[in-house]
Amino acid sequence: MAMPMIDLTRGALTDAFARPIEYLRVSVTDKCNLRCVYCMPEGGLPWLQRDEILSYEEIAHIVEAAAALGVRAIRLTGGEPLLRRNLHRLVEMIARIPGIDDIALSTNGLLLEEQIDALASAGLRRVNISLDTLRADRFASIARRPGLDRVLRAVDAAIAYGLVPVKINCVVMRGRNDDEVAAFAEYSRRLPIAVRFIETMPVLEYAEAQREEYVSAEELLERLRAIGDLQPVDGPRGNGPARYFAFPGAAGTIGVITPLSHDYCDRCNRIRLTADGRLRLCLFGDHHVDLRGPVRAGATTGEIGEILQRSMLIKPERHHLRLGEPASQMRALSEIGG
Ligand code: 5AD
Ligand code: SF4
Repeated sequence: MAMPMIDLTRGALTDAFARPIEYLRVSVTDKCNLRCVYCMPEGGLPWLQRDEILSYEEIAHIVEAAAALGVRAIRLTGGEPLLRRNLHRLVEMIARIPGIDDIALSTNGLLLEEQIDALASAGLRRVNISLDTLRADRFASIARRPGLDRVLRAVDAAIAYGLVPVKINCVVMRGRNDDEVAAFAEYSRRLPIAVRFIETMPVLEYAEAQREEYVSAEELLERLRAIGDLQPVDGPRGNGPARYFAFPGAAGTIGVITPLSHDYCDRCNRIRLTADGRLRLCLFGDHHVDLRGPVRAGATTGEIGEILQRSMLIKPERHHLRLGEPASQMRALSEIGG
């Protein structure tokens, strides 16, 4: 097969497999105030130094270049993004960039209630909140820190502020929380939320446990069908890889995200910017391009755009995640849900 070519003159970000890239996930910090077992070691990670992390101005500059090439949706992630001081200022800066029409946030919710007013006025449109259990004692053992009540209040606040659809990301683990599927289904019946069950991914030290705790989306759907009349539905607006279902009369929906069992790479529309300024072309695998160097050396928006376009050449066709096999050089994976 001939090498795929990319037309650098077209003025849009399209990768070598003809996938249009319109969605940029921006990690603003590597730090987190939780230590979810599937994500981070209990002692944390070797955190980035302050000067390694992009400033808001630097992030905005990169977003501007991406927006000029057709990126229209931004999601702020971490680590836990709300740990970064005055995050609403970044939201405000991004909201002003022509072409960006969707700004979302992925958070564990601990700090959301106190910041939601500033974030919503700055232009935040949607939130995804991580929540793996509805039981306080389990929360403390899965996230290794307490906080369930704050997360539940964050969900209510997000609904009250109209940051809808509020998406709840729930990583399902056999023996840890898989008996709560019905409780989460009930939660989605009661509130206008999208509860998204996510298959565990083999991250860092968790890779080994993942082999035992992995529950496939198909098994999960089987269990949901045993609870009630689960119907496929169109999902809420968004940019993600989930498939959605609902029970009749429910206020919300249920989604499944299947990084392992189901291949959605052919629909991939996303790239990521790490907190230290690398463009990651695929969540798994180590394909990345440094942007911090050029940005700090004074690259123009056009020059950054050229780097973005060239980087499309190394976006892989798909990931090769396998049960129990740790994925490449990743540090904490702050989420795949989107
Ligand atoms: N498996 C699945 N999802 C993960 N996340 C982080 N680590 C993993 C993993 N090993 C995602 C979850 C969580 C978000 C912060 O990141 O969706 O809610
Ligand atoms: Fe923090 Fe999210 Fe990782 Fe949990 S999964 S430790 S909340 S970044």
